[in-house]
Amino acid sequence: MRAAHLKALRMSPSPATSVYRLNQPLAFDIQSGPFKADPMPTFAAMRAAGPVVPIKVAFLGRAWVTTTHAATLAMVKDNSLFVQEGRHAGKSGVAGFQWWMPRSLKALADSMLQKDEPDHRRLRKLVDGAFARRDILAMRGNIDRIADGILDGFEGRDTVDLAAEFSRRLPLEVICDLLGLPHEDRSAFADLARRALSVTSAVGMVLAMGALGRMVDYIRGQVGAARRDPRPGRIGDLVHAEEAGDRLDESELLSMIGLLLIAGFETTTHLISDSVWALEQHPDQKAWLLADPGSRMERAVEELARFTTPVQSTKPRYVARDTEFFGQPLRRGELILSLIAAANADPAEFEHPEELRLDRFPNPHLVFSSGVHFCLGQQLARVETQAALTRLYARFPDLTLAAPDRIEWIERLGMRGAKALPLRLNAAARRLAA
Ligand code: HEM
Repeated sequence: MRAAHLKALRMSPSPATSVYRLNQPLAFDIQSGPFKADPMPTFAAMRAAGPVVPIKVAFLGRAWVTTTHAATLAMVKDNSLFVQEGRHAGKSGVAGFQWWMPRSLKALADSMLQKDEPDHRRLRKLVDGAFARRDILAMRGNIDRIADGILDGFEGRDTVDLAAEFSRRLPLEVICDLLGLPHEDRSAFADLARRALSVTSAVGMVLAMGALGRMVDYIRGQVGAARRDPRPGRIGDLVHAEEAGDRLDESELLSMIGLLLIAGFETTTHLISDSVWALEQHPDQKAWLLADPGSRMERAVEELARFTTPVQSTKPRYVARDTEFFGQPLRRGELILSLIAAANADPAEFEHPEELRLDRFPNPHLVFSSGVHFCLGQQLARVETQAALTRLYARFPDLTLAAPDRIEWIERLGMRGAKALPLRLNAAARRLAA
């Protein structure tokens, strides 16, 4: 019945696609707080306008965005038509980076995520092994311990800000462990990373420059220390990485470590917070999950990831040559973003996408993208989120949102996460029940 329904939806003739021009963008807002609080109506309106539409966004300017699952998947899979490096599309620089952005950011930004083949393949091969599923699953015990250690500090308290005190701390500790950063540096590093990466405006960018510069210096210092003195962790491994005689030069090392830190920190923070936010809005789903978290958590995290989609779009690509894509003429050198969050809300692919159904299966979401740049850390993000929710709800099953109507969302393009998530732990009720 369900399969037939989806097939009918997919086969039904799509409305004639309007032909748009990039210099006449449609007025869709995919950045503001109100949009982040409830993005699905905007995605529906965008899909009604077409599978690929032009919009205008801060920093980037005018860009095409994909609005359906089919167009989003096709875009991320076609890495010869949609490219990262300007030189492959008659432009200079890297898609999405502007001349006025600080040099330190560019140093971090010159990573494999910004490269086309064959350079991307060469760099990715050097780190793929370090993220093998088996090795990541083996980290689960350690991740549980880190989560428990943080949660110990919640005992006896009535309210906490989950975002600052748990969702941010856990991924940071895990990524620092993975890289092998010294324990004594972590809180200072966390503070730098928060200031360097929380840029939502041009003014914010100026303020972040100092922190970014210091972050790059810090990473450089750690690379130097690992060269002099071999140490456990990925920085040590990367310094000595050799794959068929290949190794990373100094600037490749810096940008690889920067990429792992940036890609692995804030993304997972938001998935953890957003998941708790979603569960607390859906008490029936929460009760279903907590009745048997051991066997239900894996599937539940897939659906929480789809439903909240914390990374809402990939970074932009350039169109490599004049083409027609899903009925839309695109010109060489134009920018295009794949809007993963809209894909994950597409009724042609998901039955009632607006509903959180923790047992949804199959769940072909694009949370971690696809194609050659699919997320390197997807397994780690899954394991961390499963551990975070399991440990949190084991201790505080009755927790509730302290201010559900006053959640403020970050306004940065492409990220969906609460600035703060105050929780009431209801520890007293738990003690009474015990
Ligand atoms: C909930 C957490 C996460 C989400 C939603 C997420 C999502 C994504 C997405 C959508 C991309 C594709 C970006 C693009 O093509 O423009 C990506 C790439 C990437 N992610 Fe993640 N990510 C998460 C966690 C992590 C973690 C924990 C790490 C590593 C420690 C990581 C490392 C990377 C790297 C290195 C890439 C670039 C891969 C390449 O260019 O080949 N991510 N991620």
